[in-house]
Amino acid sequence: MDIDYLLTTSDPVAVQDLFDEAARLRDEVYGRRIFIRGLIEITNHCRNNCLYCGIRRDVKTQRYRLSKEQILDCCRTGHALGFRTFVLQGGEDAWFTDDVVCDIVSAIKGEFPDCAVTLSLGERGRESFTRLREAGADRYLLRHETADANHYAHLHPAEMSFEHRMQCLHDLRDLGFQVGAGFMVGSPGQTLETLKKDLDFIADFRPEMVGIGPFIPAAGTPFEKHPAGSVELTLRLLAIIRILHPHVLLPATTALGTLHPQGRERAINAGANVVMPNLSPQDTRALYSIYNNKLSTHSEAAETVADTRARLKAIGFDIPVDRGDFSKLKIEN
Ligand code: 5AD
Repeated sequence: MDIDYLLTTSDPVAVQDLFDEAARLRDEVYGRRIFIRGLIEITNHCRNNCLYCGIRRDVKTQRYRLSKEQILDCCRTGHALGFRTFVLQGGEDAWFTDDVVCDIVSAIKGEFPDCAVTLSLGERGRESFTRLREAGADRYLLRHETADANHYAHLHPAEMSFEHRMQCLHDLRDLGFQVGAGFMVGSPGQTLETLKKDLDFIADFRPEMVGIGPFIPAAGTPFEKHPAGSVELTLRLLAIIRILHPHVLLPATTALGTLHPQGRERAINAGANVVMPNLSPQDTRALYSIYNNKLSTHSEAAETVADTRARLKAIGFDIPVDRGDFSKLKIEN
């Protein structure tokens, strides 16, 4: 695969062929099935100051955190809607100690033994990850953000390190989590070279999940004036990632849906096979504003999953009531 060519060509036939090949491989591994995950944004407190992020420490915004009971209520709503994976996502919030998170994870696994629990709570130590895994967490999402150390330093304050982020991903893998990595498309300082390093990293580490979406400027951040990333380039990268790693679980991200009304459908036609509608309490959705105009209504709201199911059915896809685990099936490729 000539990645430079596919990322830069203006030939629409070559791009369509790329999308078709990615969709074909997705169908071969997972069938025409799109998995859903209920996203519960448990806290927007964050001790970090990532330069791109709308909930970074220095942004003056209303902060909230959900209680265990609120989180369980979200899961109850989600379970009734057919969700069998719950993703607990949040900023790096010291209030969510290992004891607190383990208690919540055990409660979810106790009440919903047929469900997978995914955590997305940022960097923690190996001992912490060990406890979370023992409490029953199945998966962990931690985007690597960029596989280039200099680019990483351009996006993050000096107290954060590329090495520690990569260490976390390796620890998570060792501990038996299904691991999610990923990056933004069009983040400040990104080049064709850094993107190729991201693709090399994915082809080599083979994360079970890869979350990629366009960078979108966030008010009150150092990058608030930087232009958003390209939807078109994001779709090509999704397709390339599917071809490099056919078994990957690849979400059509909210950022893509925010920038383009058909973003989610276009991602699916380029090889994506996961959607993650918002299952947070209605009154906190607007507060989890990691970037401007982030969608949490209509197609991004968990409550409208029946509508999503009908729309996807019309283009030949099912949304199974299923955990949607990483497939270990072998295919020829
Ligand atoms: N635009 C797009 N994505 C963002 N993220 C954080 N800030 C932004 C932004 N401004 C992504 C990061 C992070 C994930 C939770 O959201 O990649 O890992």
